[in-house]
Amino acid sequence: MRVATTIFELRNSLGELLTPIGLVPTMGYLHEGHLSLVSAAMNDCASVVVSIFLNPTQFSPEEDLSTYPRNMERDLEKLDKIGVDLVWTPTPDDMYPTNYQTWVKVERLTQPLEGKYRPGHFSGVTTVVTKLFNAVRPHKAYFGQKDAQQVIVIRQMVKDLNMDVDIQTCPTVRDPDGLAMSSRNTYLNRGQRRAAPILFTALQAARVVYDGGERSAIKLRLLIHKIISSEPLANIQYISCADADTLEEIQDKINGRALLSLAVFFGSTRLIDNVLIGD
Ligand code: PAJ
Repeated sequence: MRVATTIFELRNSLGELLTPIGLVPTMGYLHEGHLSLVSAAMNDCASVVVSIFLNPTQFSPEEDLSTYPRNMERDLEKLDKIGVDLVWTPTPDDMYPTNYQTWVKVERLTQPLEGKYRPGHFSGVTTVVTKLFNAVRPHKAYFGQKDAQQVIVIRQMVKDLNMDVDIQTCPTVRDPDGLAMSSRNTYLNRGQRRAAPILFTALQAARVVYDGGERSAIKLRLLIHKIISSEPLANIQYISCADADTLEEIQDKINGRALLSLAVFFGSTRLIDNVLIGD
């Protein structure tokens, strides 16, 4: 496995790779969710590149950039073991040198949900993903359904900017008790960790009710709200039932695909999760 840091090193190593190339962008502290994207890429592509870059521009000043977990040595061991060809680990100065001044912004899709509570977050994501795509020039790139809005925003960007990359979405990987895997789960104390699976329990309960014929978006949001608020350690930020394509909140009846999504605090740790319902 090759490891490149500077763009110059990356370019040299890319020349040796067979095509098609699959890219898995990450911020490190890798878990089974990340590794499932790598496996999907290895199945589809002749070479796999993983980027590990804790992107400062997608964190607002009051967010958790400084405490975000990292362990580069362990990440590289995991990737080497499963047979990744090349890992790119740029530094913030490689990505955003002095006098950096270009941003990629997707408009409407970044306004609701995560965008509403994390202003500026998606500009950071779309800018860094554009830079990763431009540097690696992958044929395919892999993202997790765990961050549902992120992948919808990236698909829109790729379409709008005529980027020649095929975006693949991989299912959310969960712990056995249903908690979606996340680097941020390591912040949870024992009690919070025990309580956190309530998020998926609530989303699944809504899915069951939907499958039973309930089409009222209001009722599904209420049901999720009721289940999660029964957990004293959970502090709800938002619960949404939105059109799965436009991400506009559904006011009345669900017809077509809907995204049930939420953000909930356990102490100062903010967790997100989602399920898709409908055809
Ligand atoms: P990060 O949070 O490290 O996640 C990297 C990729 O792994 C994302 O596509 C994310 O959706 C996926 N992922 C995380 N947890 C998952 C899980 N439990 N199951 C399946 N996939 C999961 O998302 C980012 O980094 C950044 O925003 C990035 C795209 C790298 C841009 O900086």
